[in-house]
Amino acid sequence: MYNEKVMDAFQNPKNVGEVENYDGLGKVGNAACGDIMQITLKIENDIITDAKFKTFGCAAAIATSSTATEMVKGMTIDEALKLTNKAVVEKLEGLPPQKLHCSVLAEEAIKAAIEDYENKKSGGTAATEIKTV
Ligand code: FES
Repeated sequence: MYNEKVMDAFQNPKNVGEVENYDGLGKVGNAACGDIMQITLKIENDIITDAKFKTFGCAAAIATSSTATEMVKGMTIDEALKLTNKAVVEKLEGLPPQKLHCSVLAEEAIKAAIEDYENKKSGGTAATEIKTV
């Protein structure tokens, strides 16, 4: 069902865990299956210097989290906000159609983490809620 790239990202995921002293945290839940993904980011001068994830979800969710965290490292926050689930799926050379919705979690978790970072920067409180996508 999954191609080799997806299986490799699922079996040897990169960036598992939580960034120490993170600047942004995004937690999103998939309304369809109930799976949850958390992404934490270290951001210096609006550049993402570190990204880690914790995913309570399926193989596609884990593979896309791993790949998305790899992709955003070194990006500016504006570039990362433009990262689509489609780009992550392309990097993985495809997902089965019925698993495409799983890749939306990574895109949304990154957006939520950047939102948290920007909110805290402008004096707001840290994110605590799980956003449903
Ligand atoms: Fe829930 Fe894949 S089935 S994220």
